Parts: sequence; C-alpha cells; structure tokens
Amino acid sequence: MSQNKGIENAKKNAAEKAVEENVKKGMILGLGSGSTIVYAIEKVAEMNKKNDLGLICIPSSFQAYKLIIDHGLTLGTLDQYPNIDLDIDGADEIDKNLNLIKGGGGCLVQEKIIAYNSKKLIIIADFRKDSTFLGEKWKKGVPIEVIPKAYVPIMKKLEKMDGKPLLRMAKAKAGPLVTDNGNFIIDVDFGIIKNPSELNQKLLNIPGIVDTGLFLGMTTKAYIGQEDGNVLIKL
Ligand code: A5P
Repeated sequence: MSQNKGIENAKKNAAEKAVEENVKKGMILGLGSGSTIVYAIEKVAEMNKKNDLGLICIPSSFQAYKLIIDHGLTLGTLDQYPNIDLDIDGADEIDKNLNLIKGGGGCLVQEKIIAYNSKKLIIIADFRKDSTFLGEKWKKGVPIEVIPKAYVPIMKKLEKMDGKPLLRMAKAKAGPLVTDNGNFIIDVDFGIIKNPSELNQKLLNIPGIVDTGLFLGMTTKAYIGQEDGNVLIKL
C-alpha cells in the first residue's frame, strides 16, 4: 500500500469508528474542519440515510457548513443551539495528556468556540499526529489567529518570546491567508512545548491575538487510526 493510501485509510478508520461509537439519535452535533472530518461527515450522512437520526449539525467553518449542506444533513447555528452534545474534529497533533495543536487548515477560532460549548470533544486523527509533547511531530508551528492590523507588533513580540513566527500566505492569491473571520494566521515554531498552558496564557495576553491553536484540557477521547488498520483510543 502506498504511504498516502495508508494515511487516508487510517483517517477513515478513526473517523468511522468515532462516529459509530458516539453519534446518537437526536444529538446536537458540532463538526470540525480539515481532511479527516470529511470521512466522519460521510459516515454521519450514511447512518442518517439508513435511519433518520434527527441530528442538528453545527459547523465550525465554511468547509463544515458546505459539507453539512452537501450531505443533506440539518444545519443549525450556535445562536439556536448553544449547548452542543458532541463535537467531532481533527487535530494536527495530540500529546500524552490529549492537549492539541489545531488550525493547520486555518479554522481554529470557530473550532475552539464549538469545542468549548460541547459536552464532549472527540478527536479523530491518523498515527502521524500522536506525540508525547506538542511540537514533537507537528513542525509547522502553533497557528495563531490575529487581527490583521496588529500582525507586525505581534510577530515582533513572538520573536521576543523565542518563537519563530511566519505569516501564513494564501495559496492561490498574492498575500496572506484570510480566515473565515477575516483575520490573519501566524504560525509560530516554539520547538517542543513542555508547558502548553503557560505558553497559551502568555499568547492570549497579547492584544490582537484572537485565539491560539492550542486546545488544552478539552478533549474527551482521541481515535487514532494506525498503519495496521486498527484504531487506538486515547483517553
Ligand atoms: C483546521 O484548521 C484544523 O484545526 C484541523 O482540524 C486540523 O488541521 C486537522 O486537519 P486534518 O484532518 O486535515 O489533518
């Protein structure tokens, strides 16, 4: 099997198992963003077709919003349903305490709001994301969403904090990537992060930082697809 095929299978296995074991009739369901969540939404739609589950799906991004609509699922907003039963989402890295780096796909702020307002957060990922410490496997840095007008002083401050900040650029447009909220993203390499909560607090104290891709103490369970086809559950 090619390496890519192995990774895609691992994502699919994790997503399908997580949905089968956790999605129940009548739930208010938060849905994350990225490539792994696509498999989860496909599975939710398949189960819902067989048996109307009466789910209300709350998107965490434009991508999730489109996937919900395209799969014929019922869309809801956080205004209508501020108490979410279950949130399923991907991650860029998962440490031994189930702390996460998220935002590789540029959608961290809405994802964090959905996760915070959910009774449970279930993470789905492939084996490449499983670490002891954050920063061990994910080498692109911690994504930080910032107000565009503040990006230069924030980058200077991040350098003073021994980070290596990089303004994330758009792929098919000249200039920076603009998030679903109209902001910029700075990816900051802090090396191996031994104390994520101290780092997160320092970052959140900087004016102009909207939020960080450090999701700490939020995850209930992580389903991690392995190369051999099994799914490891981290609690
Ligand atoms: C979106 O911005 C992210 O937080 C994703 O949840 C994360 O990057 C995981 O994406 P993949 O499932 O594509 O690895």
